Amino acid sequence: RQSLVDIPVVVHVVHNTPEQNVSAAQIHSQIEVLNQDFRANNPDVNKVPGVWQELVADARLQFHLARTDPLGRPTDGITRTETSVTEWGTDDLVKFSLSGGHDAWPADTYLNIWVCRLRRGLLGYAQFPGGAASTDGVVVTPTAFGTTGTAAAPFDGGRTTVHEVGHWLNLRHIWGDDQEGCSGSDFVADTPNQAGPNLGSPDFPHVTCGNGPNGDMFMNYMDYTDDAAMFMFTKGQSARMDATLDNARLTLTR
Ligand code: ARG
Ligand code: ZN
Ligand code: CA
Repeated sequence: RQSLVDIPVVVHVVHNTPEQNVSAAQIHSQIEVLNQDFRANNPDVNKVPGVWQELVADARLQFHLARTDPLGRPTDGITRTETSVTEWGTDDLVKFSLSGGHDAWPADTYLNIWVCRLRRGLLGYAQFPGGAASTDGVVVTPTAFGTTGTAAAPFDGGRTTVHEVGHWLNLRHIWGDDQEGCSGSDFVADTPNQAGPNLGSPDFPHVTCGNGPNGDMFMNYMDYTDDAAMFMFTKGQSARMDATLDNARLTLTR
């Protein structure tokens, strides 16, 4: 696929406090980051080490808040739900009105993003392609959503949502999910084999698993570094996302 794919997004804000009821401006700031990062138009892309600059991918994906709801009525692409639930886990309860959240919009037409207070330490989580439509999408905590309002350093760059949308398009963690071992894989050929997740803002190069001299690609969105320390997808990752959009998520491209 050469053409751009433009994905309609619905943001379900599920709030227990006024603070959690994130503003439209905060939501728009998140959409803007998605549009920069999935087109390699992010202002920090020039921080990619020279040795990897040719691997930087324009994933040719755009995002816009939905303009029509599932019944064909005009919408701003945002739902707002007040809830008595004070925090949420990875059990998908936020995805159902019956449990104090909000039901998904049809997953073959919309990317569903729930913004709700997640339990301590959890910034976000995603459902990979192939799961139930009723739970499809990504969930992000308000303090790691967008770049303004309640977004808080070091996760105020909108990159949690970028990372989760990467999972939603079938990207694995760059270290292959085997913690500190060297046998896990992300099934992407152009990302270096790397031992475990990197946190914070590492110094380049950080060598593990014999991947010298360049070491771990810790500035990749699919690592666990701080928002200001991650700024690229690779061409191999982009090809993997393309394959998802040609198969499991084909309906979103039309
Ligand atoms: N699912 C991951 C977590 O909750 C998201 C990590 C996102 N990283 C980031 N720099 N924003 O830990
Ligand atoms: Zn992840
Ligand atoms: Ca790899």
